[in-house]
Amino acid sequence: MSLDAVLARIDADLDAALDRLMALLRIPSISTDPAFKADCDRAADWLVADLASLGADVRKCPTPGHPMVMGTIGEGARHFLFYGHYDVQPVDPLNLWHRDPFDPEVQDTPKGRVIRGRGAADDKGQLMTFVEACRAWIAVNGSLPCRITFFLEGEEESGSPSLVPFMEAHKDALKADLALICDTGLFDSRVPAITTMLRGLLGEEFTITGPDKDLHSGMYGGAAMNPIRVMARVIAALHDETGRITVPGFYDGVPEISNALRAQWEGLGFDAGAFLGDVGLSVPAGEAGRSALEMIWSRPTCEVNGIWGGYTGDGFKTVLPSKAHAKISFRLVGQQDPLAIRESFRKMVRDLLPPDCSVEFHGHGASKAGQFDTSDPAFEAARRALSDEWPDTAAYIGCGGSIPIAGHFLNIAGTTPMLIGFGKDDDQIHSPNEKYDLESFHKGIRSWARILQALS
Ligand code: BES
Ligand code: ZN
Repeated sequence: MSLDAVLARIDADLDAALDRLMALLRIPSISTDPAFKADCDRAADWLVADLASLGADVRKCPTPGHPMVMGTIGEGARHFLFYGHYDVQPVDPLNLWHRDPFDPEVQDTPKGRVIRGRGAADDKGQLMTFVEACRAWIAVNGSLPCRITFFLEGEEESGSPSLVPFMEAHKDALKADLALICDTGLFDSRVPAITTMLRGLLGEEFTITGPDKDLHSGMYGGAAMNPIRVMARVIAALHDETGRITVPGFYDGVPEISNALRAQWEGLGFDAGAFLGDVGLSVPAGEAGRSALEMIWSRPTCEVNGIWGGYTGDGFKTVLPSKAHAKISFRLVGQQDPLAIRESFRKMVRDLLPPDCSVEFHGHGASKAGQFDTSDPAFEAARRALSDEWPDTAAYIGCGGSIPIAGHFLNIAGTTPMLIGFGKDDDQIHSPNEKYDLESFHKGIRSWARILQALS
């Protein structure tokens, strides 16, 4: 069993691995849009066929939504789950893409070679890093050094409606030494990372209604309450002048990070100026007195994701609209309770309504933050393995995003999640022109080969 031979095999097979990823990227598996249901199914079929070609015992498992792909391969004392998602985000606004999002291409850019296309980084390119590492390992050694259960989801980008019931029903199959999840990022292009903190997420959509029909703003304006004005007041009231969120009880369960963690994060030398500079900004906009890294990793937020109402088409229309709409999301940390915050938020909005206005709410996802234990020696072993592949030593980091399944692995199956990924901040996930660096893909595959050896 020679790691060097596996790494050499990965290098030699890179072009073929890229071709396989391109084939998966060509399938427009947008989970949130019913028009792409057959494509989600096709992506699941593609993965079943690919894992079967490795010798896995694998099948497509139906759910009320999109299918899961589950399979096992390998033998050994150690058993690891691997999770990734094959669904992708919608592509709109399509006019901002420089090419068809589902006609992926390897491109040369001033910062290196990239794989361009929807899903390249989130999460098809990342999930294939693990599959390709297994493929190379098997090609060289005939079999894997451990048992792997693949668990690939097709609903992650649409809030995973089928996930918890499915996990409850397959609890036993999901018990393993660790759940490896490849859906996060590097700290930067030199420093690989194991993510140990994820923020939770609470989504709320609401509609404020004033008059029972759209009105002429000259005939009624002044006498009739405008619901967009009410919506603007509600949204403006969600933060105070120091950037704190004003929903009553919102900070219940928000911990201060320990001095040790603060010192460790300071040691990472995060460059907030460059982080914001890359997106055309310069001043951190969160709670006063917090570092930018705290703002994204360990502090909760409230963001308006969309707001609409009235006439927004070309030209001009003097309408006094009947309705105003908004979608907002809260990122949660520590022990914040999403359902308690939902109730408190809804009460706050109702209390802010003037006479004659009403509000209807529609809740989206509600997941708690996750903080994962790294005391299992496997974490240090994985950290050393990552450090052998990348220029600098691997770091334990937080993540501003949310991956609710990490908490489900722990709570439903008792399996500790280990989050390792190779994305970069400039991958433009969820946005036009998503990319994954060829280096992330190549070194990602090599990293997993090293980790498999270290953990087995
Ligand atoms: N891969 C992301 C999570 C992520 C985001 C990791 C940023 C690292 C950096 C994942 O696919 C995702 O987008 N999650 C959603 C939550 C989900 C419940 C819709 C998110 O964070 O908004
Ligand atoms: Zn995503």
